[in-house]
Amino acid sequence: MSGGSLRLRPGGPLRGAIAVPGDKSVSHRSLIFNGFASGSAKIEGLLDAEDVACTAACLKQLGVRMEGDRVWGCGHHFRAASSPLYCGNSGTSIRLLMGLLSGQGFAVSLTGDESLCRRPMERIAKPLRLMGADVATTEGRPPVQVNSGTLRGISYSSPIASAQVKTAVLLAGLQAQGRLTLSEPRTSRDHTERMFESMGVQIDRSVAEDGTHTVVMEGGQRLHASDVVVPGDISSAAFFLVAACISPGSELHLKRVGLNPTRTGVLDVLKRMGARIEVCDRRVVSGEPMGDLHVVFSELCATQIGGREIPTLIDELPILAVAAAFASGETRISDAAELRVKESDRISSTVGFLRAMGVQVEEMPDGMVIEGGGVDAELLPTRVHAGGDHRIAMSAAVAGLRVRGETQVEGAHSIATSFPQFPTILESVRG
Ligand code: S3P
Repeated sequence: MSGGSLRLRPGGPLRGAIAVPGDKSVSHRSLIFNGFASGSAKIEGLLDAEDVACTAACLKQLGVRMEGDRVWGCGHHFRAASSPLYCGNSGTSIRLLMGLLSGQGFAVSLTGDESLCRRPMERIAKPLRLMGADVATTEGRPPVQVNSGTLRGISYSSPIASAQVKTAVLLAGLQAQGRLTLSEPRTSRDHTERMFESMGVQIDRSVAEDGTHTVVMEGGQRLHASDVVVPGDISSAAFFLVAACISPGSELHLKRVGLNPTRTGVLDVLKRMGARIEVCDRRVVSGEPMGDLHVVFSELCATQIGGREIPTLIDELPILAVAAAFASGETRISDAAELRVKESDRISSTVGFLRAMGVQVEEMPDGMVIEGGGVDAELLPTRVHAGGDHRIAMSAAVAGLRVRGETQVEGAHSIATSFPQFPTILESVRG
């Protein structure tokens, strides 16, 4: 990679054993929750990438002490920040901190980079206002001003299945008087619920027949710092799973990948498409399931992706669309309108780079339809602009492994937000 541009030449199987870096969602939570808690905790395997570095910098501004792999919690009382908190590209940082800061008794403003300043924040601000906080957004987006208030428990049904909304409301709920009841239309990733339980907070959870997931928590509970071993990120592993599936002769072993069932939709879909993936050495560490994945080159067939499955693979849809381009038949992705408000509009950016590579793909309001070229498909050389979106850059790079000629991914510096080692690991398994 040079000057933010990643060049890929096609060919060659991917072979070897790799470890993907720490899970981004678990990394943010382990810092934020332990930084707020009473006591201190050791965090092993924390993701070393820009998004998590932004969370750490914000917490330091709020008076949290961090040295090496240890965090000392502030005992539920942050120090007032003297300047705005900068969250970079990270939606998880800004949204979780909004929830936490809404009960801290001081005013604070939060902002981020150009991409973050285009993303919706009213989905967080609205429930926090109902709880008694005074939150102002800039036409629905960052910068955001949080003037905390006396918080009360509410009963709130989120219109979207979002772990960021759920976590922000639960973090405010810890500091509220009374009971909080939060429902979401489908179960979003549940790292928060698992970590809260391991930190001594009692919550009740249930899933109704129609898929509605409800969390109930009494306010006024305290988080007690607790050591965390962060599993490898399945969202990062997904790029290598698909790369191996579409590159003839490949055989990869991915070590200690997080296998939380609210995140493993990518495995279900790839297996349904005929991918030869085996899970071995399953274990539970720090309340999170993990295991090793073994994947070999596979002939893929088309599938339908939608409904309840979407929250379990929302971040993997761009790379699954790449897999679909090498499957036989038509793959339809629906119910995924949330993709339009990620680091980029991921429906239009995925459709854009696949089309530029010669794939037949139709854009839908809530997804896309991809006409797969089958196992022998060959894509066209092109120059892709990742539009500041790390997952688009990595998905295009994987597609580039099967291009007749060179693929150039511009804006590949964005990869550093979640997986800085991606280009090096990719080179290492290509021999
Ligand atoms: C995340 C939740 C998801 C996901 C994001 C990380 C989290 O976003 O897309 O990459 O750590 O809570 P939503 O909560 O908006 O669905």
